[in-house]
Amino acid sequence: MPQSSSLHVAIVMDGNGRWAGRRGLPRVAGHRAGAEAVRRTVEAAPDLGIGALTLYAFSADNWKRPASEVAALMRLFARYLRTETPRLLKNGVRLEVVGRRDRLPAPLVAAIGAAERATARGTGLRLRLAVDYSARWAIGAGVVLPDVDLLIRTGGERRLSDFLLWESAYAELHFVETMWPDFGPAELAAAVADFHARERRFGGLSEAVAG
Ligand code: IPE
Ligand code: IPE
Ligand code: MG
Repeated sequence: MPQSSSLHVAIVMDGNGRWAGRRGLPRVAGHRAGAEAVRRTVEAAPDLGIGALTLYAFSADNWKRPASEVAALMRLFARYLRTETPRLLKNGVRLEVVGRRDRLPAPLVAAIGAAERATARGTGLRLRLAVDYSARWAIGAGVVLPDVDLLIRTGGERRLSDFLLWESAYAELHFVETMWPDFGPAELAAAVADFHARERRFGGLSEAVAG
């Protein structure tokens, strides 16, 4: 059963390229496997008390990558949106894409609009995909999302890479070595359990001290 609390969890889905490299596969194979991990994670979220999930799919700095990788990612996003929309609808997920759209290929912009319209009445999980996203840009544009409760980064790096800087002011940070394509319900459950074991003080005193 979904828990009553409603957490906003944000994930930097990192490690696709290294996951592929270790298997002797091209980087795009890692991105494809990453899309499977997105599906598993989205479907596991509601039962863990997660009401909103924000996933970092493509940063504004990722345009620096080779054109072939960027093009493959853009096609993959469009395909994900088209193939997943029926499942999202069935699961009551409301999908929204955050980030700039003016630099995205037209077929992807169309797929985003179609997926957002189709799922607009979803009353379950609020899923946000961050594409061509930069927190600095978003802050400048005045586009601010709800506060993040738990921020997870896979792939072993311990940095934010311009993701939700403002909204993560008091986020609990959870870094794991797991490469994103290997992430799933068990890893998500472990991160949420770790979150519940922490004490969030927001600048106040520990409950034990305050009485
Ligand atoms: C994250 O995986 C996906 C994107 C940034 C699009 P990476 O592609 O950064 O994978 P690594 O970090 O090179 O392993
Ligand atoms: C952050 O990962 C962006 C996404 C996961 C979409 P990067 O792989 O681009 O970040 P850096 O370059 O290691 O900081
Ligand atoms: Mg990376």
